[in-house]
Amino acid sequence: MAKAEQIIELLKSHINGDERRFYAIAMQVAAHEAKQGHGKLAQELKSLVDKAKEKRTVLTASPSSVVNIAHPKGELANLLSVDYPAVRFSELTFAPAIKERIDRVILEQRQNHALAEYGLRPRRKILFYGPPGTGKTITAAALAAELNLPLLTIRLDGLITKYMGETASKLRLVFDAIKSTHAVYFFDEFDAIGGDRALGNDVGEMRRILNSFLQFMEQDHSESLILAATNHVKLLDNALFRRFDDVIEYRLPDGDQIDKIIQNKLYNFTLEKFDWKDVEAASEGLSHAEITRACVEAAKQSVLQEKSTISMQLLLDAIAERKYNSAVPSSK
Ligand SMILES: Nc1ncnc2c1ncn2[C@@H]1O[C@H](COP(=O)(O)OP(=O)(O)OP(=O)(O)O)[C@@H](O)[C@H]1O
Ligand SMILES: [Mg+2]
Repeated sequence: MAKAEQIIELLKSHINGDERRFYAIAMQVAAHEAKQGHGKLAQELKSLVDKAKEKRTVLTASPSSVVNIAHPKGELANLLSVDYPAVRFSELTFAPAIKERIDRVILEQRQNHALAEYGLRPRRKILFYGPPGTGKTITAAALAAELNLPLLTIRLDGLITKYMGETASKLRLVFDAIKSTHAVYFFDEFDAIGGDRALGNDVGEMRRILNSFLQFMEQDHSESLILAATNHVKLLDNALFRRFDDVIEYRLPDGDQIDKIIQNKLYNFTLEKFDWKDVEAASEGLSHAEITRACVEAAKQSVLQEKSTISMQLLLDAIAERKYNSAVPSSK
């Protein structure tokens, strides 16, 4: 029989609507039963989980979920790239303060009509800043997925040219699209536009681009979401901040988040001999992205050794390798 703790965990994940964790625990129960020699029961549990997962994939892949299909044409095709992300916030780990603010954006967007009855508008211009690999880009993707909107990422290589005046007119095209096509628009590496770190050599031109951006933002009363992300908030012009409804700071994960990232990523495996305090200490200073990669490496090794378990040592080795790799550029 399943252990009482497993039943409690199953119920908790069900109550929290955490489907992935629910299935992960069901698989752990199956593994436990197999070890006890209850092969038939284990097989039945596993095939039930497989069936449920299959059904879920069919449901989420339904084309009706993409309501608003955007196909940038002509010059716009060089300025915007389209994506229909499927990533969900339930798969990601964020500090509570960040999650609350993102939830507020989603809620206000979903309650758009209720707000409009009182002449209120949902927040829709958001700036993300913080160190690399902390989830800024993936937040833009998950917001688009959660709101069932296409994600249109502004292509900086297409936008910023060395010719005077051209960038501002391209920016106008982007803002025309923002007005005409309801979507999530994402300015990644935003300091290229919003900062005085000139990409071209002409500082005057960068100033003009920034001024155009500020003006377009001010004039924009569309329904679209305008998101921007940067690692270099200090480079941003002060005038920018009040153009955004929200400015969200991303940070490296703390101990609690480190545990959650790992549990989420390795939910298909049984974790063996884990002392979470040791894992947290070893992961300190790594980003969400680096911890995720360490998990993927450990998972690969375990699969290649035909195991369904991951020992703490295996993960610690993968973490040490990530630390070594991320330290290489700065020591050059
Ligand atoms: N909060 C998170 N929870 C789980 N996984 C995450 C999280 N943040 C990042 N990751 C993982 O790391 C990858 C890279 O993250 P992302 O590109 O969003 O970072 P970023 O903050 O945009 O970094 P950069 O500043 O370098 O652009 C993601 O695709 C995802 O696999
Ligand atoms: Mg990014």
